[in-house]
Amino acid sequence: MKEMSRRNQYFTESVIRRMTRIAIANNAINLAQGFPDFDPPKAMTDRLKEVCDQGPHQYPITMGAPNFRQALSKKCGHFMGITPDPEKEMVVTIGSTEAMVDTLFAITNPGDKVVMFSPYFENYHAQAIMADCEPVYVPLIPPEFNFDFQVLEDAMKQPGVKAILICNPSNPSGKVFTKAELTFIADLCKKYDVYAVMDEVYEHIVYEGHTHTYMATLPGMWERTISCSSLSKTYSVTGWRLGYALAPEPIMQRIKQYHDFNAVGCASPLMEAAVVGLEFPDSYYEEFGAHYAHMKKIFTDGLKSIGIPFTDPQGTYFVLANIGPYLRKGQTDVQFCEEMTEKVGVAAVPGTSFFKEDVQDIIRLHFAKKDETLYEALNRLADIKKKMC
Ligand SMILES: Cc1ncc(COP(=O)(O)O)c(C=O)c1O
Repeated sequence: MKEMSRRNQYFTESVIRRMTRIAIANNAINLAQGFPDFDPPKAMTDRLKEVCDQGPHQYPITMGAPNFRQALSKKCGHFMGITPDPEKEMVVTIGSTEAMVDTLFAITNPGDKVVMFSPYFENYHAQAIMADCEPVYVPLIPPEFNFDFQVLEDAMKQPGVKAILICNPSNPSGKVFTKAELTFIADLCKKYDVYAVMDEVYEHIVYEGHTHTYMATLPGMWERTISCSSLSKTYSVTGWRLGYALAPEPIMQRIKQYHDFNAVGCASPLMEAAVVGLEFPDSYYEEFGAHYAHMKKIFTDGLKSIGIPFTDPQGTYFVLANIGPYLRKGQTDVQFCEEMTEKVGVAAVPGTSFFKEDVQDIIRLHFAKKDETLYEALNRLADIKKKMC
């Protein structure tokens, strides 16, 4: 048989999604893959029931149902301060995941370099490799996850750099990039003619004292920014697989082609039901933010009282915990997470899935869970020393 594609021959499966399978097999609480165990807003599920009877059930307009795009454009105008043209500057995708892949394929050629911060969201490395691009990593330095401006500039000015890929607010570090940091990055994008590909799925999960700045709103950046985001996190509907990309028309035209031929469109009934979410008033986002602050408090207070060191997130629903005190000699973080799932009954993601640097003592846990789930997880984690050492 002839050789199959060389592109993905060295891929492993997603560690995050593998940990979910291990969690299910061990009946463990899954704090690995980030998804809520509470319901989406009732108005959206009620509308979905109606749509089930009324339709639509057939192929949607490829670039997204018109009423969905109009509602999204209005929401963006409200929160971003940019009102993208629903016809020309927007495409609805299968989650932000597809938006990012379509974008990378649309703007890069094989051999181009893509700058990304480390730790990075697991998908980015794979997506860059699938697009035949070479990732260039710039460290975010714990515990603040700041970056060295000179190191970033040295990376951006390398020949062949086409894009910088930024997760803001950032998974897994919980960093919310400041306006000053984004302005510095924006200036480098303009100086070295680099596209900014933004993954902003946690745009509405930002804690007190921090503010989300949309890269596309900085001077001269709409022209070279592709803003990818999603309904997954904002409306607790990770399974609906609805996301989108926003970009100026010349870039969007190219992104749409990948969506057209790869996906044909997103699920018609789900787009229809999601419109009510996109039209929610400000009070929804206020309550949503307050709920996340509440879950964060339960979880981080719990970790503190158990004595597990962790970094306090500025946004997102992740904490990076230091498992150094519990690791046995020679044990890897992957082995640790598997054993912790079996013995403690809580699943986490090993840090090596996110860091380019050689770290073995970090795991990622998420807290998008009901209060009772978080208390039970903390109850189990209280035994971590006894069960793991
Ligand atoms: C940073 C980041 N981007 C994208 C995704 C996937 O988003 P979607 O469900 O919209 O594909 C996730 C999911 O965990 C994420 O953490």
